[in-house]
Amino acid sequence: MQIYFIGGKGGVGKSTTASAFAVLCAREGKKTLLVSTDPAHNTGDLFQVKKVKGKTNIAHNLDLIEIDSDKEALAYMEQVKQNIKGLVKVTMLEEVHRQLDLAGKSPGAAEAAVFDKMTSILLEDSKSYDAVVFDTAPTGHTLRLLLLPEFMGVWMDGLLEKRKKVQDNYTQLLYDGETREDPIYDVLQARRQKFSKVRELIIDKEKTAYMMVVNPERLPILETASAVKTLKEHGISVSKIIVNKVIPEDVEGTFMRNRKEAERPYLEDIKQMFKETEKIYVPMFDHDIATREGLQEYSEFLKTAELMKA
Ligand SMILES: Nc1ncnc2c1ncn2[C@@H]1O[C@H](COP(=O)(O)OP(=O)(O)OP(=O)(O)O)[C@@H](O)[C@H]1O
Ligand SMILES: [Mg+2]
Repeated sequence: MQIYFIGGKGGVGKSTTASAFAVLCAREGKKTLLVSTDPAHNTGDLFQVKKVKGKTNIAHNLDLIEIDSDKEALAYMEQVKQNIKGLVKVTMLEEVHRQLDLAGKSPGAAEAAVFDKMTSILLEDSKSYDAVVFDTAPTGHTLRLLLLPEFMGVWMDGLLEKRKKVQDNYTQLLYDGETREDPIYDVLQARRQKFSKVRELIIDKEKTAYMMVVNPERLPILETASAVKTLKEHGISVSKIIVNKVIPEDVEGTFMRNRKEAERPYLEDIKQMFKETEKIYVPMFDHDIATREGLQEYSEFLKTAELMKA
């Protein structure tokens, strides 16, 4: 099984690239799962599928999941409530639930929930696929999600340690040193293991590949450069840069020719800044490509044996 993450600044063509790439994998006979983590879902629309609910088959060999962050946040808090059932004093339960509901509405909760869903897709759903393609939300957000296992790891270790200390103290005080089971510790420990498994998976170069989509424009280049750097700091290297919306050489008319000239220095910047990374160039099309046929056309440009390798 191969995992692919497609990242990049807003509007550069991540969803198009991820979808076209998923189409390509499926056509090559791989059972493929396309996952959208973008809160403004339009992947289903690209395939002209009206309702995407859970895992939805959208083409031969190709399924789609659109992660709905609000819905996941609710489900996530429900699960937390289930987990603490029987662990919290009944008199405290109402207050604890109130706190959890509040926490569920905080901005971080949606991200944590999306991450939890990604975790279970990576560890469970992925088992029945040959390729899993993540169409991720704009760079900053995705990076945070990807780095979360590391952060979470550190944070969880802290929690586990604290929990153990408290438990040890109680054990000493109340139970005369006799060891007691601690269900909360077990829940934390299980999560810890899940996160480190995901981390192992996403830094494994044999299993996971990162592709960044960029346009020959100033801001997408800067944002991508900083994303590549951050990923590198965390031991993740980007395997491909997809340079999308490159204006063809043979454009006519002053307007387009001027634009083409304006683009050249940025293409040069891309060459310089991402020297070590293989680049794949995709032209700007003169027609709408947000259709099944358009994706097919786009995927022709991704069709290199190289791309399939992590
Ligand atoms: N090479 C191309 N030629 C012409 N149009 C393109 C090309 N690549 C993408 N587009 C169009 O550009 C728009 C943005 O593409 P897309 O939705 O894939 O970007 P995105 O990076 O996923 O955006 P967001 O950050 O909003 O999720 C779409 O309308 C898409 O059809
Ligand atoms: Mg998108």
